[in-house]
Amino acid sequence: PVRGVGRAHAKAILLGEHTVVHGTPAIAFPLPTLSVRAIARPGTPGGVIEVPDGHFGFVAGDPDVAANTLSGPRVAVEEALRRWGLTGHIADVVMECDIPLARGLGSSAACAGAAVRAVADLHGRTVDPATLYELVQCGEQVAHGRASGIDASAVLAAGPIRFHEGSATALDIGLDAALVIADTGVPGSTQHAVAGVRRNLDRDPRSARRALTRADELISGAVADLSTGDAAALGRAMLDFQDLLAELGVSTPHIDTLVAAALEAGAYGAKLTGAGLGGCVLALTETGDARTVSAALRRAGAVQTWTVPTRGLRSG
Ligand code: MEV
Repeated sequence: PVRGVGRAHAKAILLGEHTVVHGTPAIAFPLPTLSVRAIARPGTPGGVIEVPDGHFGFVAGDPDVAANTLSGPRVAVEEALRRWGLTGHIADVVMECDIPLARGLGSSAACAGAAVRAVADLHGRTVDPATLYELVQCGEQVAHGRASGIDASAVLAAGPIRFHEGSATALDIGLDAALVIADTGVPGSTQHAVAGVRRNLDRDPRSARRALTRADELISGAVADLSTGDAAALGRAMLDFQDLLAELGVSTPHIDTLVAAALEAGAYGAKLTGAGLGGCVLALTETGDARTVSAALRRAGAVQTWTVPTRGLRSG
């Protein structure tokens, strides 16, 4: 068998982005349909981590986005090699990635996870899940400034998770519906968005506490609704969370337009997913309505949409 291959998948946050950085729980799903494959070869000193433009659905010539996405994998791989006593043996890693970069779908964490798995495979090492999470998280801290760990956790998880203060628990899903993800086509900087939210929370501690308490309530309710399969209640929670994210300053007129279009087309609820200020919108729909909602999102300006049945998301 070919040595030196590693994979990881995208993720979508159902509820709890941003507030999770400040200690509340969050809920995330793996998106196995969008993945990244990393191929590691014995490297030249210094090593190269490379993302051929052709494999990315993003604007070639946007070096900031590529550089930011790649700083995480590089740091994660370097830390892995340091721990294995292989400093100086850095591998060349090439990434083939279906996940659009900087769209809130976890591309930087997934690239880091795939890269570490590929380098481990090349050197015949096994990495236990806790160590892999730590290594990806090292990269995320560099790529995002201060990362909660939800992206690192979700891109490595086999099923839906509830994430809280650094640990993930597998969620019980009794929901028969569809998630429709719509790309605004606008790259959003997680680091920038997280810093902006922090400034807003610091400015008004009383409304900050209110926002975090509200987030906590919405997520507790949603954990129960996911298990009983109450899609209508989940849709309402998504809309409430979208309002909260807008108050925190990470929605945009484009995101608002896509949310409104999804609702008009019959979605239970919709919101931004990930860091916002661009990125993707996530809608929850009845399975039979997914196509209509997806078409409405494209008419409203989404550059791409993906549909994921919740039934296919097995528990972690
Ligand atoms: C980004 O996918 C999620 C944020 O909450 C940042 C983080 O948790 O590290 C915005």
